[in-house]
Amino acid sequence: MADNDTGTPHAAAGTAVQKSVPTQTVAGTAVELSDAFVNPGLPPHRARVTDTDPKKDKQAERRVYTLFYASIVGSVLAIAAYSVFPIVPGDSNSVRLNTVFLGLGIASSLLGIGIGAVYWAKNLMRGDEIVEMRHPTRGTEETRARAVEIFKLGNEESGFGRRTLIRNTLIGALIATPIPAIVLFRDLGPRSDPASALETTMWKKGTRLTRDPTGDPIKASDITLGSVFHVIPEGLNDVEDKLEQKAKAAVLLMRLKPEDLNELPERKDWSYDGIVAYSKICTHVGCPVALYEQQTHHLLCPCHQSTFDVTNHCQVIFGPAKRPLPQLPITVDAEGYMVAQSGFHEPVGPSFWERT
Ligand code: FES
Repeated sequence: MADNDTGTPHAAAGTAVQKSVPTQTVAGTAVELSDAFVNPGLPPHRARVTDTDPKKDKQAERRVYTLFYASIVGSVLAIAAYSVFPIVPGDSNSVRLNTVFLGLGIASSLLGIGIGAVYWAKNLMRGDEIVEMRHPTRGTEETRARAVEIFKLGNEESGFGRRTLIRNTLIGALIATPIPAIVLFRDLGPRSDPASALETTMWKKGTRLTRDPTGDPIKASDITLGSVFHVIPEGLNDVEDKLEQKAKAAVLLMRLKPEDLNELPERKDWSYDGIVAYSKICTHVGCPVALYEQQTHHLLCPCHQSTFDVTNHCQVIFGPAKRPLPQLPITVDAEGYMVAQSGFHEPVGPSFWERT
């Protein structure tokens, strides 16, 4: 072994050398620091009270299965709440009761399983610290056999097979927990004929156009040039399924200069003196199209920015919507109030329904 120019000893080829910081380094010379940290190892193992006292162990076991029982009760409560406190249309108190009890049931169900599992792991499963060295995953037969062995050991140490009451209540709780989702999602399921439900709205010949939400009828003379009205059909506030009907029948009413309107020949008489009415339900996925740009006569859906050109029978000029907003044919009655000539001539809302 000979010294080099910097005074650091040379190592023989293939010999690992841990270099220490030279007391004097030359500017520009790379220095490899020695490992500054020493593995501190694990702290001494402290036995838990459940490890040393069989009574405490039994007590902990009782707590765990009680929590799993509570989870099952929570799931049952959630299902019961759904039928005992049904949502009555128009009754906000029923919505509150339904939400509170459903929420309490689902929360107890999830918390029961969560807290029970953590308590079980912390107090009853084997608690000594172990170190497992990392190594490449080889997937050989030997490794797989070892995995099975570890699984069996884990089963033995956790008491999953031995503590049958805990195991069975946990399985019961896991089975019961998703059940409330069935009743919740049932309402989202398709009706027997969803298309027909969307094809018809409250609009029919002679229905007055009224202001949203007051229900006051609108005279043609109230609608000034450039204005926009949010409109609902007359009588909507009196029907039982008001929200469902409004979700289909909401309309936007605008007045433009008649010469600005580029109307289709077959729809020439669908407007009245520059006043046009279009469905407010976006043909993309059904958000309310609520923004009207007075200067450009564009309607903008705030959800995904679909833009409709009112001057060109609400054609889509930007965004993901695939078809124009449906137009409501309108006119005025003998008293000068705006009325519908008929219902919509095509389904309102997302285009999906049009194709069913
Ligand atoms: S719902 Fe209107 S753009 Fe998507």
